Amino acid sequence: MSVFQIPDPAASSPILVTGGAGFIGSNFIRLWLARETAPVVNLDKLTYAGNLENFSDLTDRRLEFVRGDIGDVKLVKDLLARIRPRAILNFAAESHVDRSIHGPDDFIATNVVGTFRLLECARDYWQRLDAAEREAFRFLHVSTDEVYGTLAASDPAFSETNAFKPNSPYAASKAASDHLVRAWHHTYGLPVVTTNCSNNYGPYQFPEKLIPLMIHNALSGKPLPVYGDGMQVRDWLHVEDHCEAIRCVLAKGRLGETYNIGGNSEKANIDVVHTLCDILDTERPRADGNSYKEQIAFVKDRPGHDRRYAIDAAKMTGELGWTPKETFETGLLQTVRWYLANPTWTERVISGAYRDWIQKNYSAR
Ligand code: NAD
Ligand code: DAU
Repeated sequence: MSVFQIPDPAASSPILVTGGAGFIGSNFIRLWLARETAPVVNLDKLTYAGNLENFSDLTDRRLEFVRGDIGDVKLVKDLLARIRPRAILNFAAESHVDRSIHGPDDFIATNVVGTFRLLECARDYWQRLDAAEREAFRFLHVSTDEVYGTLAASDPAFSETNAFKPNSPYAASKAASDHLVRAWHHTYGLPVVTTNCSNNYGPYQFPEKLIPLMIHNALSGKPLPVYGDGMQVRDWLHVEDHCEAIRCVLAKGRLGETYNIGGNSEKANIDVVHTLCDILDTERPRADGNSYKEQIAFVKDRPGHDRRYAIDAAKMTGELGWTPKETFETGLLQTVRWYLANPTWTERVISGAYRDWIQKNYSAR
């Protein structure tokens, strides 16, 4: 007797990841390829934060890279028509708060206008699918806890019902994008889910963010610049736990819903820096035998600096069964060891050398 299996179109059609050459997107793609069968197409503009060397260890033929802007309507429409994805996961963004304070333009262009255009392309594509494909399609928008603003020490953690009160240009641009995603579901029925996550850390994070910047400066003998009094609190989550949460929301999240994702791991910045110094003192002691803590320098605060973020992830746990696997202590040790084992990755990012081949490869196109 022979058994004929009708191939499940959703199982073989790819997912489209935008911003997959960045920190979280590249970790997500690595995790996806390890756990799932469906191919991945990575659409990334390769801004300063996009680094194809984040994939130098990956030889999986199910991964295709396309260089492009989420706001390039023709490119995105053509791409969707060619690859026919079963889901779009939007990681693409300008992501650094300090940069948004110095120059907000790119944040509006990508996070607001880019997301708008991507939504319009997704809507156009989704409307042309047959009924079964339309039913299976998802637009997953990756966002941040910063949309909720700041908390006082005694406030309860952010839940999905908190009002949006963004304080930085970055946070405002992400809040705007979240609103657009919500409206495209409410008005047009586009099948969307949104995630709002706390501070991530782990391998391949661009060394402008707190943890990789402190590791790099410590090892280079530079000051460790702590903003203000260093008592601002962030809720830290290992990037792999965030990526697992996104996979979970994609598979089981209810349409039109938002899901808060966090590590239940609130730490003051100064404590994070002290812990990093303690780890480095053991793993890579300074030549003079003194602690890296000697390099700590309190510097002028970030304008409008949010005092505290904390995430209530009860909905993720209760509804979808997700909990973080990594503790901050083990995750930070693993992260420091990754940066110590991969000095060339950081050096090439700091020197800009990682962009050389991009110039070579794309300038004549
Ligand atoms: P990142 O800055 O490391 O990477 C962003 C990526 O997007 C880069 O590869 C960049 O080249 C690409 N990109 C930027 N503009 C683009 C455009 N117009 N078109 C196509 N690609 C473009 O950022 P990240 O830390 O990996 O964050 C990814 C997403 O997760 C962002 O949406 C961010 O808001 C969100 N997020 C980040 C954190 C965090 O702690 N890093 C926490 C919660 C949510
Ligand atoms: O909460 C999620 C957000 O976390 C994401 O949406 C953002 O994309 C991501 O960049 C991050 O934003 P933060 O501003 O919290 O991260 P950053 O690493 O820039 O800073 C963390 C804290 O450390 C913050 O309170 C500022 C402080 N800091 C940062 C730097 C770079 C310093 O004290 N010194 C520094 O040099």
